[in-house]
Amino acid sequence: MNENDSGAWIGMDGVLTQYREYLPVSQSTPIISLGEGNTPLVRSRNLSERLGCPELFFKLEGCNPTGSFKDRGMVVAVAKALELGTEAIICASTGNTSASAAAYGAYSGIKTYVVVPDGEISKGKLAQAIAYGAEIIAVSGSFDQALDIVRRLEEELPVVVVNSVNPYRIQGQKTAAFEIVDQLGNAPTELYLPVGNAGNITAYWAGFQEYYENRRSGGLPRMMGFQAEGAAPIVDNVPIEVPRTVASAIRIGNPASWRQAIAARDHSNGVIDKVTDEEILEAYSLLARTEGIFCEPASAASVAGLLKQASSGRDLSETAVVCVLTGNGLKDTELAVDVVSPKIREVSANYRDVARVVDHVRDL
Ligand code: F0G
Repeated sequence: MNENDSGAWIGMDGVLTQYREYLPVSQSTPIISLGEGNTPLVRSRNLSERLGCPELFFKLEGCNPTGSFKDRGMVVAVAKALELGTEAIICASTGNTSASAAAYGAYSGIKTYVVVPDGEISKGKLAQAIAYGAEIIAVSGSFDQALDIVRRLEEELPVVVVNSVNPYRIQGQKTAAFEIVDQLGNAPTELYLPVGNAGNITAYWAGFQEYYENRRSGGLPRMMGFQAEGAAPIVDNVPIEVPRTVASAIRIGNPASWRQAIAARDHSNGVIDKVTDEEILEAYSLLARTEGIFCEPASAASVAGLLKQASSGRDLSETAVVCVLTGNGLKDTELAVDVVSPKIREVSANYRDVARVVDHVRDL
């Protein structure tokens, strides 16, 4: 273990301790942590060559305690809720927010209600909410409808909404930008990420700006956000009633932080574009097979976006790129098994049959 300048143990604290000075932490804020943050920034070994982009990195947010970036914001939102004496939290979710809220709710001994679109969230994420003991409400409708309902409930009942409309969520999530700068030694030239409800792009932009203003970085990245083609309200400039995409985490038709996402794009001279499901799945496979990184489909939208930029003829040789991989592939295993036609050889349990397959090793 190493000690850093502020006397904190590097890698042993959650974001509330690690980035305390940048967060709304007061004397009365409980410092809680499930070990969120401090996720790896991995240098690309193979895609970088293919894309002619020597400075290409992946930020593995799936390494957070519940397997997605949501934990960074959730720990702050729940700490502030506890500070106010809250006994229950609630969220609408495409899956990851519900898993994170349920975990921090359980850890804090408060009640967690999660409202999800029925049949639209992956089994892994649902399993998390069940295991953590949340009260799960499946509505026959979209994420956007679930979020509307949750926001109205907060007005009537003593529950705190922990979706990214809660400003503390954004505060916590901006720490991912700090970490990237701390790990790289500067801000990247471009940051690629998936866009759903648009909280994350808002948070990253806030984080990069704050670090820049505090002279912790020498520049600001272009924010490169990507929506799925069938769920691209920001790109198409119109809300979508029935969003469709294989990437269930970003199946959102009317993002709550729409305006902030546009501001992040415009102020950073960035781009918000869309990628098809085929492009998402291609990136998902490439990451797993050529980089050894298993992320969930929505996360692969960032890399699909980078591939799209590269195929439009951009020269990336001088561009430092970070792709944010927002969630762990283990959250959505049905997809890997169904979509990426598996190559499984079924043989009987004897030495000779197994050896016959492995014998091909001689031809390598
Ligand atoms: N990637 C993953 C894995 C997500 O779960 C989400 C959002 C996003 C990207 C998009 O982030 O909404 O801040 O633009 N998931 C939310 C949820 C909506 O309920 O878990 P965003």
